[in-house]
Amino acid sequence: MSSSEAAGNLEAKLERLLAVETFDPPAGFTPRHQVDPDAVGDPEQFWAEQARTLIDWDTPFVKILDDTNPPFYQWFGDGQLNVSHNCLDRHVAAGRGDKVAYHWHGEEGERRTITYADLLAETQRFANGLKSLGVGRGDVVGIFLPMIPEVVVAMLACARIGAVHNVVFGGFAASAVRERMEVSDAKALVTVDGARRKGKTAPVKQSVDAELGDLATLEHIVVVRSTGTPAPMLDGRDVWYDELLAAADPVCPAEPLAAEHPLFILYSSGSTAKPKGILHTTGGYLTGVTYTHRLVFDLDPATDVFWCSADVGWITGHSYIVYGPLSNGATSVMYEGAPDYPDKDIWWQLVEEYKVTIFYTAPTAIRTCMKWGARYPDRHDLSSLRLIGTVGEPINPKAWLWYHTVIGGERCPIVDTWWQTETGAIMISPLPGRTPTKPGSATRPLPGISPALVDEEGKPIEEGTGILVITRPWPSMLRTLYRDDERFKETYFSRFGPETYLVGDAARRDADGYLWIIGRIDDVINVSGHRLSTAEVESAIVAHEGVAEAAVVAQADEDTGQSIVAFVTLSGDRVGDDADVAELRDHVAKRIGKLARPKRIIWADDLPKTRSGKIMRRLLRDIAEGRELGDVTTLRDPGVMAALQGKIAAAADD
Ligand code: WT7
Repeated sequence: MSSSEAAGNLEAKLERLLAVETFDPPAGFTPRHQVDPDAVGDPEQFWAEQARTLIDWDTPFVKILDDTNPPFYQWFGDGQLNVSHNCLDRHVAAGRGDKVAYHWHGEEGERRTITYADLLAETQRFANGLKSLGVGRGDVVGIFLPMIPEVVVAMLACARIGAVHNVVFGGFAASAVRERMEVSDAKALVTVDGARRKGKTAPVKQSVDAELGDLATLEHIVVVRSTGTPAPMLDGRDVWYDELLAAADPVCPAEPLAAEHPLFILYSSGSTAKPKGILHTTGGYLTGVTYTHRLVFDLDPATDVFWCSADVGWITGHSYIVYGPLSNGATSVMYEGAPDYPDKDIWWQLVEEYKVTIFYTAPTAIRTCMKWGARYPDRHDLSSLRLIGTVGEPINPKAWLWYHTVIGGERCPIVDTWWQTETGAIMISPLPGRTPTKPGSATRPLPGISPALVDEEGKPIEEGTGILVITRPWPSMLRTLYRDDERFKETYFSRFGPETYLVGDAARRDADGYLWIIGRIDDVINVSGHRLSTAEVESAIVAHEGVAEAAVVAQADEDTGQSIVAFVTLSGDRVGDDADVAELRDHVAKRIGKLARPKRIIWADDLPKTRSGKIMRRLLRDIAEGRELGDVTTLRDPGVMAALQGKIAAAADD
């Protein structure tokens, strides 16, 4: 059969499958773990049992949940444990030191096999290295690294000594790193000489120096030698990672820490320009990720090879590249590079080579692969796969069906997992092999999790569309926003009271009780599963000297789910041209990162405002998506809209 014939057949098949509403669990798939969603009974006891059976405690907890001061909940508060012990020492002690923790695959095809014993040895040395730099319990350590094994070592070394890591996604600009280091008072930063991307090298240490060189609170910068890119080292402040390791004592016992000891901060975007420092703690977070990684992915650590294609710099990477898999003693694939380098089949080559059994990615990646065509996965043997999953945004049925057919070979259950940086771990997902799935729905809450839909007044909605909330605390929930308890309360626990967590998403519940996530109800944009704040992008744009005013909205996008559209008024009487578009996009890339670049910039003489001067984003969204304008009666100057509608300039992507 010719490849165009095959493509035609696939297309016809997908069309046919679009009519199927519910997919029964694949017949050949037998779930490995017993759990009865209806038998949870007392959720507190349920969680205590998970914590006791899945985690090693130095001091077992007696108290399960302290809910006396909502929304400041504490879990397993009188227990003590260490996350790095749970991820490393306990497996090595049980005789599994030779088990592979990571099959690391570099962008140029390099391979590194890292066992649990290797990881433990390097983590102990680096933990001692950090101590020798004066880093101790409660100190914040920034981590700005690409997808190399040292990023895992750095995280675990912090966890081992009670330091709090603050990982910044490697794709962010150095100025975003500075902001996150500054507001968290980071004492040290672990970074790299250079980072590779599709055959090119970015001089990371040089950029870090240019932006953070004068940050007084940052006492040390540790630099991993990765690409050999020239990296100026400042005497007394900067130290090479390998030299620090060589000088360090090989033994560093894991310190028993209180269950509520902070484990990490991860900055995420909110409704204002200031990123939120989401804080997770030790016992509850580890319980949540260990439980969900085992149950949702039907994990057998002895035989499975797990691959989560996210970057460690996002919560998906924290929970399902590092902590969940390691705590469960699993073998994972870690891939440094892009999905289309050296060619568009690299992911499937890796699945074949490492015999990946569980694959976890984002809908946006699936849509991209779908666009490239089935001929890339068809080059490889994907028969090792037994379960596949998605996260980050709602998946459109067509992409789900393609994933099911082309990647999953129609035999793999798909888990569409809904969760957030704040929730720490998966909250809503099918139980593989048990829950019948409907393409586009994350289905039902996991045992132990209590979501609800409410209307504007907070009244429960059984069926239909509403605001998604969580009505009971869960162990892996965020504990606060770093050094900003007020904003924590205000953002998540004010609208419906201190005991109801406001998710920030709208959702629909159908007649079968299945949940369908619709999207954000706040000013957060989801581009390729990455969360960005309209305010943050706006403030980056107006920081440009030529800009008078800017408003940013989301537009539905076939590839990335949503994309960013910026309405910009230039200073003076200037009208923007193509060069300005390029300049502004570049400017945003430098201030935040490439993924925050507006896809379209629309030049505006003026922006639509209410009489009190508030920008009416709703109308801008209408324009961006080419819709009829909604209610314009509150507009101060209706002429503005007419002028705008005429002026649409498209910016090329990339
Ligand atoms: C937001 C959280 C959790 C890791 C990735 C993103 C959206 C996430 C799904 C899903 C529909 C989803 C929500 C959520 N989202 N997973 N399976 N179906 N929407 O983490 O950056 O904290 O973003 O991503 O809107 O609120 P995040």
